[in-house]
Amino acid sequence: MIKKVGVVGAGMMGAEIALCFAREGFETVLNDISQEIADRGKEKQAQILDKRIKKGKMSPQDKEAILSRVTATGNLEDLAECDLIIEAVLEVFDVKKSVYEKLDAICKESTIIASNTSSISITKLASTVSAERKGKFIGTHFNSPASVMKLVEVIPALLTGEETVCTVTDVLKEIKKEPVRVKDVVGFGLNRIFHAMYLEACRLVEEGVCSTEDVDKICKYGLGHPMGIFALLDITSHDLNLNVDQILFEAYGDRFRPSPQIIRLVDSGRLGKKSGAGFYDYGEE
Ligand SMILES: NC(=O)c1ccc[n+]([C@@H]2O[C@H](COP(=O)([O-])OP(=O)(O)OC[C@H]3O[C@@H](n4cnc5c(N)ncnc54)[C@H](O)[C@@H]3O)[C@@H](O)[C@H]2O)c1
Repeated sequence: MIKKVGVVGAGMMGAEIALCFAREGFETVLNDISQEIADRGKEKQAQILDKRIKKGKMSPQDKEAILSRVTATGNLEDLAECDLIIEAVLEVFDVKKSVYEKLDAICKESTIIASNTSSISITKLASTVSAERKGKFIGTHFNSPASVMKLVEVIPALLTGEETVCTVTDVLKEIKKEPVRVKDVVGFGLNRIFHAMYLEACRLVEEGVCSTEDVDKICKYGLGHPMGIFALLDITSHDLNLNVDQILFEAYGDRFRPSPQIIRLVDSGRLGKKSGAGFYDYGEE
């Protein structure tokens, strides 16, 4: 049974993943390479909760109660007693490997280690943990922003135990997520659908079939999406999107060939909302 949850990496994903657990009453430890960076992750959590208070959806007391369940730390050993640890560090195999090696030495025998990787094989990552831990290693792919998006892809590695899959699925339901089991393939499920769709949207514009704005209208008014796909791509940022395209292209060939439009945007520094411009302009934001 999962009572205490650790998250390694307090960046864009880790801070929000930890918040999802703290919100539902779990004792949570949020770790990064220094106390300062871990504290920044906790500050981001406070900002997310402040927005909810502003909207009248939460009281200041609720916020304090949630944050009191989060321990931010620069010391990985503070995760020793965690039942589940989610790794959300940089998308670099060797960085993740060194985190697992340290966790393996620190953690209880029963601790489950999950990776939030978007593109590295879960089975390859699982090969870096001890033989005893292999049955307790799994992928949990949260979506951004993790505190809002309900989908979590659950990806067993070749040697992941069925008990681990069930425990992780159950705890994700406890924190009000929608877990979906997928095989350990490149892009898992979500990124294969999303990238196939947006690359086709890019082709519509490149072939002159319709404009960027009209593709976005098709998504909103024809598919019922809350926003157009190009507006969404500007938010997720084109350098990250292109990186995933290249990984999918390598794995599956032509159907994921990167779009010349996206390459041009990246080459010209129009990375999306974060750089002030992408498909659309965002002024001084
Ligand atoms: N950003 C997304 O939209 C998204 C979506 C799904 C999955 N992911 C995956 O989630 C993971 C994290 O992505 P992110 O966008 O949050 O990255 P990020 O760069 O925002 O955060 C990564 C954090 O890891 C920390 N870190 C690095 N080495 C560490 C170590 N040894 N110990 C502890 N902390 C360490 C960094 O200091 C940083 O704070 C990646 O594997 C990424 O592929 C990202």
